[in-house]
This record gives sequence, structure tokens and C-alpha cells, in this order.
Amino acid sequence: MAETINQWAVITIVLSGIALCFGVFFIRNHNREAHMRAMLLASGLATLFLVLYLTRLGMGYEKKYVGPDQWRTAYFALLISHIILAALNLPLALGALWNAYQGLKAAGNLGNIDAPAARKLFNRHRAWVRWTVPVWLYVAVTGWIIYLVLGRYGEIVKG
Ligand code: HEM
Repeated sequence: MAETINQWAVITIVLSGIALCFGVFFIRNHNREAHMRAMLLASGLATLFLVLYLTRLGMGYEKKYVGPDQWRTAYFALLISHIILAALNLPLALGALWNAYQGLKAAGNLGNIDAPAARKLFNRHRAWVRWTVPVWLYVAVTGWIIYLVLGRYGEIVKG
């Protein structure tokens, strides 16, 4: 059961990374409506990931690395950076969403984002996403790598 939850957690975080890439692609092509939808989907999937991950943690499921010793340091460096940036990703995503939401409220609709009150908020949105997007992508990609490494070199400790 915990193993299945773990698999779904990885699937949701990878899908959220893909939705994020689509969202960036859409805004580069000036398609704001599609950008908003893709980013809300990415955020929803990331929330689902968090719920699944915390459920798995609550069940006590844990795997430890038992792979080659020469890869141990690299693996733990990857794992620690992944955990720290995953925790950081939550406030970064909330900051980006909050400014987009406030901006949309001030603009009235996505065609009006250059109205002065909205412009200020979307400039803040841009400042937040400069960090949010790379951190989110790093977390999604490294999460997938860790899952693959533990699939090959992991040993269940609990669960
Ligand atoms: C956490 C989720 C989100 C992320 C990671 C994100 C990411 C981005 C990125 C990378 C850009 C391009 C910034 C640039 O050109 O420098 C952008 C711009 C933009 N985003 Fe988002 N976005 C998110 C959510 C939203 C939502 C929900 C809305 C809808 C209200 C939205 C509306 C916009 C608009 C209108 C722009 C263009 C701003 C401008 O031209 O100044 N974003 N966003």
C-alpha cells in the first residue's frame, strides 16, 4: 500500500513539473489564459503530491540507500538538496500564486494586466517566479532520480 502511494507521489510531482514547463511555454507565447490554467494544474498536482508524501511518511514507510559506496556522498548531496528545496518550494509557489491572484483581482481580467494597480503585482509575480520555476523543476527532476535510485539500490527499512 505504502509502495503504491509512493509511486503515485512520484507520478504527481513529475506531472506537476511537466505542467510547469507547459505554463512557462504558454506565457512565452503570450497565452495568459493557458498559462494560468497550466500553473493552477501544476499547483494542484504539487498539493496532491504533498498529501501523498505526508500520508506515506505517516505510515512509517522508509527506504535506505544500499548502493555502491562511491555514489553514497553524491546520493546524499542530491537527497539533502532535494529536501531543502522542496520545503522552500512551498512558500515560493504561494508567493507567486498570491501575487498573480491579487494582480488578476486588480486587473479584472487577464487582458488588462498593464493597468497600473495590476502591473505592480504582476511585476512582483515575475520576481517570485524567477526563483519558483527553477526550484520547482529541480525538485521534480531530483525526486524522480531519487525514486529511480531507490528502486534499484533501495532497501525497505519500515513499512
Ligand atoms: C505558482 C504558479 C505560477 C508560476 C510558477 C508562474 C510562472 C510565471 C512565469 C515564469 C512568468 C514569466 C515571467 C517573465 O516573463 O519574466 C509568468 C508571467 C505571468 N503569469 Fe504566472 N505563474 C504562476 C501562476 C500564475 C497564475 C495563477 C496566473 C493568473 C492569474 C498567472 C499570470 C501571469 C501573467 C499575467 C504573467 C505575465 C506577466 C507580465 O507580462 O508581466 N501566473 N508567470
